[in-house]
Amino acid sequence: MTTRLRGGKYVVQGGVVLRGAVDISGAKNHALAAMCAALLTDEEVFLTNVPYISDVDSLSELLVSLGVVVERIPGGSLRMNASGVNVFEAPTELISENRASFQVMGPLLARHGFAASAPPGGDVIGQRPIDVHLSGFEAMGAVVEREGERFVARTGAAGLTGARVFMDYPSVSGTQNVMMAATLARGHTTIVNAATEPEVQELALLLNAMGARITGIGSQMLEVEGVDRLHGTTGRVMPDRIETGTWAIAAVMTGGDVVIRDAPVGVLDALIHKLRATGAHIEEAEGALRVHAEAPIRAVSFQALPYPGLATDLHAPFAALLTQAAGVSIIHERVFDNRMLYVSELRKMGAEIVSTGSSAIVSGPTLLHGTRVRALDVRAGAAVLLAAMVAQGTTIIDDVYHLDRGYERLDEKLRALGVELERH
Ligand code: EPU
Repeated sequence: MTTRLRGGKYVVQGGVVLRGAVDISGAKNHALAAMCAALLTDEEVFLTNVPYISDVDSLSELLVSLGVVVERIPGGSLRMNASGVNVFEAPTELISENRASFQVMGPLLARHGFAASAPPGGDVIGQRPIDVHLSGFEAMGAVVEREGERFVARTGAAGLTGARVFMDYPSVSGTQNVMMAATLARGHTTIVNAATEPEVQELALLLNAMGARITGIGSQMLEVEGVDRLHGTTGRVMPDRIETGTWAIAAVMTGGDVVIRDAPVGVLDALIHKLRATGAHIEEAEGALRVHAEAPIRAVSFQALPYPGLATDLHAPFAALLTQAAGVSIIHERVFDNRMLYVSELRKMGAEIVSTGSSAIVSGPTLLHGTRVRALDVRAGAAVLLAAMVAQGTTIIDDVYHLDRGYERLDEKLRALGVELERH
């Protein structure tokens, strides 16, 4: 398992031009949701292409604490069996490590009629409430109460009942949680204003492979016909679209030429559109992207939006790129209310970027210089890492454990593309 020690630093030499090929790992947010789905059955769920990242480690530990047998198989597979689940409450210290872990609630509630958890942790990128998860459970007949620090959800003897559930916001993990719960509810559930992110779609497909009856996949109206039980299955975690975007942005930013293998090319429209607008060249062939660019990079404005808009998780890396673009770019964050923390770190490196509320204005191109900065969360960390690649001199990035949460074998992949770095 990867290390979950806090801290860690990168010492990065700037002035690199990325060249070569990189293989995309399995998607963090698909893997985490799929792991929670294993709780819905007493049979084995076998996942391949599971990334070797610390968020997978912490969720594995949480599942084990509930009584799930979790076996990590070298080569990226994970075998899970939840037949022995005998604890229905997520330990607070583990639930606080990542937000995805709150998705154990829906499956536990649906299969065992009881689930308890403290509010989830995760990056400090905004309010991150869980009201849509809880109101979805309530709509299906659960009673949800706050007992001290924890939320406790219970069903009557007959379990959950299918219902029409309106999501106040198309929350990704909220949709996943409610959808998982609905698979075992009695009767039909309609989820209105569902999230359409590819990871939600992939989870629905995995649930159907377990015997669930979900239709409307990929639309904002999910229809779930409840079934009595789900069975085991084997599934492959989709390639990570955010990792793909990070490498594509890095290639453009450094004026490099990178082939990104096993990229989820069908779900990258917004990214490809915006990168082409900067003047970058992007070619698609057989599941791979070739991304290359030469100066000058053009300024482009963007909004971070729910899918199929440009992903909020690419906001900070894209902003780093725009520090190298000629002209003024305007950014609006439309998903989270506190995603601008990276701005102060880029400014320490000389970026001309100002933020107000959930918007930022970037003027470029600016010559960035190496200094000491922090990875404030997984994606803000990616932004300073990208900036360090083009900065003059050496950049020291503290708290790179955040990057371990979402990027598999990062040091190795960086070095293979020509980045000189040390990790301490
Ligand atoms: N929201 C509500 N009520 C809720 C839940 C969410 O209003 O009950 C709002 C939030 O306040 C936020 C917005 O909905 O403004 C989006 O939150 P969402 O619930 O969709 O996000 P999430 O499920 O917590 C997942 C990913 C994030 C990714 C977002 C948006 C996982 C484990 N995490 O989070 O990934 O940014 O969707 O696409 O799936 C990352 O990988 O770095 C990351 C943060």
